[in-house]
Amino acid sequence: MSSVRLALVGAGVIGRRHLGAIQRSSAGVELVGVADPVPAAESVAREAGVPFFSDTESLMSALKPDGVIVATPTEHHLQPTLTALDAGAHVLVEKPIMPTLEQAETVIAASNSTGRQVLVGHHRRYYSQVHKAHELVQGGVLGQLITVSGQWNMRKNAAYYEPQWRHKWQAGPIVTNLIHDMDALRYICGDVASISGETSNDSLGFEKEDAAALIIRFKSGALGTFILSDQATSPWSWEYATGETEFFPKTGQNAMYFSGSKAALEFPNLALWHHGDNTADWNHPLQRQEMPMRLDDAFMLQVDHFCAVIRGELPPRVSAQDATDTLKATLAVFESANSGQRVKL
Ligand SMILES: NC(=O)c1ccc[n+]([C@@H]2O[C@H](COP(=O)([O-])OP(=O)(O)OC[C@H]3O[C@@H](n4cnc5c(N)ncnc54)[C@H](O)[C@@H]3O)[C@@H](O)[C@H]2O)c1
Repeated sequence: MSSVRLALVGAGVIGRRHLGAIQRSSAGVELVGVADPVPAAESVAREAGVPFFSDTESLMSALKPDGVIVATPTEHHLQPTLTALDAGAHVLVEKPIMPTLEQAETVIAASNSTGRQVLVGHHRRYYSQVHKAHELVQGGVLGQLITVSGQWNMRKNAAYYEPQWRHKWQAGPIVTNLIHDMDALRYICGDVASISGETSNDSLGFEKEDAAALIIRFKSGALGTFILSDQATSPWSWEYATGETEFFPKTGQNAMYFSGSKAALEFPNLALWHHGDNTADWNHPLQRQEMPMRLDDAFMLQVDHFCAVIRGELPPRVSAQDATDTLKATLAVFESANSGQRVKL
């Protein structure tokens, strides 16, 4: 079987993480080129031993890769994605799929008209913990899902907010961070019916929010709350829970709690609480059952999956439509906070 030829567009923080994932993969994949408008990014291509281009068009016509990983800043996702699809390549685009719903719809239409697949980089969907939570909740082990609570509270460093573009709402924690948790919540609990939200920018005073609080009604009838901030010190977030990268020292604290009629689940530590057989009420002792799991190499599994999608073996695990639904639920927080109304999806 010939190897899948991938190109990388955008050689920044996450682009380099994709590059490392390609190098670790044993799925029969090779990096064939890198494109980035910033000349300094050429060193990334040189170290990988592949040609460097200053734009996506020249890369596509010179190399004709099977697939393109788009890891540009979110406001620059659209052009490289359309260029790659039009040139006949499949695309793995970083999250959020696009900064706006209109652009996301443009991508869905382009994928349909070119017959090329779009996979969206919600990489948490490649962790066993996330699958197990989905399996337990959707499989009815918790009984009827009734309530969910979660949080993502971390304190970003001052240097993070030195670039002016990071003062804008598009770079705030709702679009940048909540989108990961929203995607996981949709995957574990099912689709969202409505969102009520409040936001605040009292800490830094920029356009972007410093904190948000959400009430989520899922289509299943379950109710959820979620709080987040990128200015709050806390040990509670997916990144701290798992120690996903070396930048976030592991605390091992849970970030979400799911409660159903029969049992409750701590996440991502995956401990199940229940009253035991036939004693499902508050007067009986609760038992705690742990299901420890190792942390997978999600970025490598995502590249492996992208190769399977390109070979026509699997549909995208996170399709453009699925990621657009996650984006819709996430952007609804702003709409609700601005209008003071619950937003139905
Ligand atoms: N999955 C995750 O956990 C995760 C984490 C961080 C960022 N991201 C996403 O990845 C994307 C990139 O974020 P980042 O932190 O790597 O940003 P970054 O600023 O570190 O890197 C972006 C790179 O893209 C280049 N670039 C800009 N415009 C371009 C264009 N038109 N064509 C080609 N290259 C272009 C820049 O020069 C830069 O090298 C964002 O959409 C972000 O939301 C995902």
